[in-house]
Amino acid sequence: MGNYTVLIGAQWGDEGKGKWADTLAAQFDWVARYQGGNNAGHTLYYHGKKVVAHQIPSGALHPTCTLALLSGVVLNPVQLLAEIAEIEALGVSVRPRLLLSDKAAVITPWHPYLDQLSESKAETPIGTTRKGIGPTYADQSLRIGLRMGAYIDPQAQQAWVRKMCQQVEGFEAFYRSHEAEWATFFAAAKELAPWVGPAEALCREAARAGKQVLLEGAQGTLLDLAHGSYPFVTSSCTVAAGAAVSLGLDPRKISKIYGIGKAYLTRVGSGPFPTELEDAQGEWLRAKGQEFGATTGRPRRCGWFDAVAMRYAQEINGFDGIYLNKLDILSGLDEVKIAIAYSHPTLGRLENYPADPTILEAVTPIYESYPGWKEAIETCRSFEALPLAAQGFLRAIERTSGVRLAAIGVGPQPEHRIYLSEAV
Ligand code: GDP
Ligand code: IMO
Ligand code: MG
Repeated sequence: MGNYTVLIGAQWGDEGKGKWADTLAAQFDWVARYQGGNNAGHTLYYHGKKVVAHQIPSGALHPTCTLALLSGVVLNPVQLLAEIAEIEALGVSVRPRLLLSDKAAVITPWHPYLDQLSESKAETPIGTTRKGIGPTYADQSLRIGLRMGAYIDPQAQQAWVRKMCQQVEGFEAFYRSHEAEWATFFAAAKELAPWVGPAEALCREAARAGKQVLLEGAQGTLLDLAHGSYPFVTSSCTVAAGAAVSLGLDPRKISKIYGIGKAYLTRVGSGPFPTELEDAQGEWLRAKGQEFGATTGRPRRCGWFDAVAMRYAQEINGFDGIYLNKLDILSGLDEVKIAIAYSHPTLGRLENYPADPTILEAVTPIYESYPGWKEAIETCRSFEALPLAAQGFLRAIERTSGVRLAAIGVGPQPEHRIYLSEAV
């Protein structure tokens, strides 16, 4: 295997990236998050205890992994410290292994405030996590944002406050009226300072010395700022190529790209979702799959597996394989469905995913139906041990989506897995 492997969401996020990053981390020296911030919620289990990683890379539970946050990340310092404390309370030390890019954008108290304001004023809210992700990336693009390097330097920090007071309407009033929040925020800089540095250069150097690096994505392909159904997207580059940009890497050095998917689909927040089940079937999936956000607790919208969307994700990312989770949730159904194409009132049959939300809102999925299976499958550890109908469904996903399944998740714990082909 080469030195860089990318692991990302192939759908709308919450596919179970955390579980696989944690599983694979055993084979890696570094696990680095390359975009997003504490909008992410990656579920891990430590000796049966659930832990949700929002900003810390999902390799945290492996004591020898270096944990890095790269330039493309937006970082909430106070929440990061709380998360470190939560993981360290389990008896796993995080601090000595942490590296924070001096280029990463800082989510200040101002940014969640702006996020909440724009969501509450909007006629059609995006349904963001309200963590300040969009406003932080926006300020970075406007070149008025605060980066980690400046945040940990008291003089640069104050220069940033002065600049914001001068240039940004409403900032000064907010700054003056939220004194305690800003004090906590600036105090966190002192604590984080020892870990801030040229994380990208150190990561590349480690890889040159033979270390294995897992680049962990957050959110999912269909939430990508450019390639998702804009504006119902997150504000970062969630696709595989984003890893090379965030790390500052010759993209040809990425040796493997794996996508994480679910055997059905979920989405949190607004935006088109062609295979959504707004009926008892959808309720059933939500209840059985425990589809409630790991970050916001919001109920996730549920629907059938969409091969049109997966073909799009495959084309954009070039997956070497897909890790498909939650096959166990589908046990008990009489039939299971896959959308193989869409029908549009004026454009007719669509084989290709139209990222344009107005088109996507108007389509009706064209389904193929397959027989379901009744057996619980959590204890299955090989493809052959699965009910024949489940095997048929997996082969149908490969055939209709043009993907290769690398492994299947049959339960929430890392051991609930079946490898189908040589993984990573
Ligand atoms: P992430 O954001 O992609 O890391 O995913 P989340 O942690 O937000 O959501 C995935 C949820 O599904 C978590 O509660 C996981 O524990 C759970 N999960 C992951 N894989 C499986 C699986 O194969 N079967 C079941 N039943 N649950 C799973
Ligand atoms: P993980 O990494 C699922 C969604 C939000 C909203 C949109 C924009 O756990 O898979 P944002 O706060 O990013 O500006 O919200 O993106 N969203 C996610 N959905 N999983 C996530 O992360 C998400 N992070 C953001 O619900 O629709
Ligand atoms: Mg999640």
